[in-house]
Amino acid sequence: MNGTRQPIGVFDSGIGGLTVVKALVEELPSESIVYFGDTARVPYGTKSKSTIVKFSLENVEFLLRFGVKCIVIACNTSSSWALPTLRKYFKVPIIGVIRPGALAAVRATRNKRVGVIGTTATIRSGAYETAIHRVDPRIKVFSQHCPLFVPLVEEGWLNGSVCLEVAERYLHPLKRERIDTLILGCTHYPLISSTIHKVLGPEVVLVDSAQQTVTEVRGVLMGTDALSNGNTRPRYRFFVTDEPSHFNRIGHRFLGQVVGSVERVNPV
Ligand code: DGL
Repeated sequence: MNGTRQPIGVFDSGIGGLTVVKALVEELPSESIVYFGDTARVPYGTKSKSTIVKFSLENVEFLLRFGVKCIVIACNTSSSWALPTLRKYFKVPIIGVIRPGALAAVRATRNKRVGVIGTTATIRSGAYETAIHRVDPRIKVFSQHCPLFVPLVEEGWLNGSVCLEVAERYLHPLKRERIDTLILGCTHYPLISSTIHKVLGPEVVLVDSAQQTVTEVRGVLMGTDALSNGNTRPRYRFFVTDEPSHFNRIGHRFLGQVVGSVERVNPV
């Protein structure tokens, strides 16, 4: 198979990884994508390291069936806990969202006070903090888990009073710490950026890991001479492990366009 025509594999615990697919489609429009959302076992954000690693290994195995040229872990929770293990087991280039997001935050902060929000498992891992300190140990990192944001986003409650009140509860401690940059360390959080800005103020820079991750994907593909040459129309395929109807119904919110056909599969 011509290397440049091979698809990029993307996996997430469910639907949220479509925010990463959106960024990939915008920035690398010639690339084909195979997306795997583990909707039967979502959420990962409440689970233990061993479970997250086990599921992530299975997700990679699934994507390898499609001859993918690299794999993007769209899920922050999987990236936090499983990336080193996945890189040990598989030869295909695997890109997580943590390092790209951390690098963007290091570049953005002026007062060296950075906030990180994510699922409980992501925050427990300390992965963003570690990645930031690898680059600049002087940066102070303030972390906050925000477990209610994922269901709020999936429910479509992005701007109203309920979302605002929840955001105020979670984000006030970070505001008190005078952060000037906040990493949106979860696939779902870019959808509530405007509510987060309302609480923290417009001057706080919100870092969307998805954007930065695509830059890293481009670099990896260029480095291995595997960027698509654009000669064939890209193909997008979506697989989920539970009933596709929920994914179909709200997927456009994350992807910015209607999700085409979605197939239900068993991961292992
Ligand atoms: N995709 C997950 C993440 O980015 C959020 C949903 C979950 O808890 O599985 O961390």
